[in-house]
Amino acid sequence: MSTNNTEWTTQLAPFQPNFSSAAEPFRRLMTYYRCAIMEVETKFRVLDVQMSINRENNPIESIKTRLKSPESIFGKLQRRSLPLTLDAIENNLFDIAGVRIICSFPEDIYSLADALLRQDDVTLIERKDYIQNPKPNGYRSLHLIIEIPIFLQNETRMMKVEVQLRTIAMDFWASLEHKLRYKKSLENNEDYDEISRQLKNCAELSAILDRWMENIRGQIDGARDI
Ligand code: GTP
Ligand code: MG
Repeated sequence: MSTNNTEWTTQLAPFQPNFSSAAEPFRRLMTYYRCAIMEVETKFRVLDVQMSINRENNPIESIKTRLKSPESIFGKLQRRSLPLTLDAIENNLFDIAGVRIICSFPEDIYSLADALLRQDDVTLIERKDYIQNPKPNGYRSLHLIIEIPIFLQNETRMMKVEVQLRTIAMDFWASLEHKLRYKKSLENNEDYDEISRQLKNCAELSAILDRWMENIRGQIDGARDI
């Protein structure tokens, strides 16, 4: 697996840290963020298994994780005029460790988020509900910044993790929109506005589909077996 781990992947990167040019304390901090990702991923896997006991399907469709690359970290520190220090990273950048939870149905997003936040060792730092309040471009997801402990050999360390919960449809939409944002040839181009308008319509249609299919699931679950 690539060491430039900017992309979201469905599997955890190898545990061994391998930022060849970075200094030892930075590598150690990144390792702690990897540990935090593992903790949060496990918490969701446990909830997925437990919530599937009394129903026929699992609430989680897939989990993707991401450790922000050193290039992105330093780029963000510079954009925000922050010092290039480990303290500045830990105290200001809360999306170094990312866990993305993809569900089939919107209501499972809220059940999972509530169950996670009820856990004794999880502290909520920030919650942004872009499902109730979508971004102007149509983006939908539930974002949580949480703090959790990681248990090391001689210490317990509190780490921040960004959790994004979304449906398959929201994830599909976000990948397409992401392509538009990084398409340099469409910058300052009138096609950009037209594509953005279409994407916004797609977001609204797909939100309707999400709610409709959830309603159908409710009808199926509510139907009594003879
Ligand atoms: P950042 O400085 O980008 O972290 O902004 P923020 O702190 O206001 O975070 P926000 O919760 O708005 O978004 C964080 C992450 O959500 C991004 O890094 C993306 O992964 C995702 N995201 C947010 N908005 C959009 C969007 O409009 N489109 C897509 N495709 N992804 C988005
Ligand atoms: Mg971010």
